[in-house]
Amino acid sequence: MHADCEKIIFTEEQLKARTTEIAVEVDKLYAGKRPLVVGILKGSIIFYADFIRHLTVPVELDFMVVSSYGSGTVSSGKLNIKKDLDRDVKGRDVIIVEDIIDSGFTLANLKSLLLERGAASVLIVTLLNKEERREYDIKPDYNCFDIGDEFVIGYGLDYDEQYRSLPYIAVLKKSVYGG
Ligand code: IMP
Ligand code: MG
Repeated sequence: MHADCEKIIFTEEQLKARTTEIAVEVDKLYAGKRPLVVGILKGSIIFYADFIRHLTVPVELDFMVVSSYGSGTVSSGKLNIKKDLDRDVKGRDVIIVEDIIDSGFTLANLKSLLLERGAASVLIVTLLNKEERREYDIKPDYNCFDIGDEFVIGYGLDYDEQYRSLPYIAVLKKSVYGG
């Protein structure tokens, strides 16, 4: 385990098993369709890559870069679209793949935006869910794991752009961010 981690909460094996389970369920919903799978960069990359490999329906891939965070661990309250989609979402069945829902600000805003743009449907798939931190009215349709109010890293998730490549998810030591 990396020295900056307090404890590992999900191992590589647990992540793999749960991602497969979720993807198989989502896949069934889209029989006969061609969903546009939108990954929210950068946090979702590893989950996204694992998730899409278990879909059997034809998919198109697209990405957005949005941020509601600076380099800290507390939401700054402003959604910033740094990179928009390449594809038009009008009439499309969209699957948003996100790393974690915290306050819900990012996904509440994104979901409304894509529906305003004419998406036929928007499904939210998230790796982690911090239910007790929710401030905005949004629920994941599919969620791999619920976690408490702790800052986690690894499997795509960062603290100040560090730790994304760790193959597991761990709680970051508070001493690292001075908490
Ligand atoms: P929300 O808009 O408050 O729901 O924040 C969602 C975003 O905050 C996620 O996409 C992450 O980038 C970031 N975030 C929230 N909690 C954590 C965490 O524990 N570790 C790493 N990133 C987090
Ligand atoms: Mg993110």
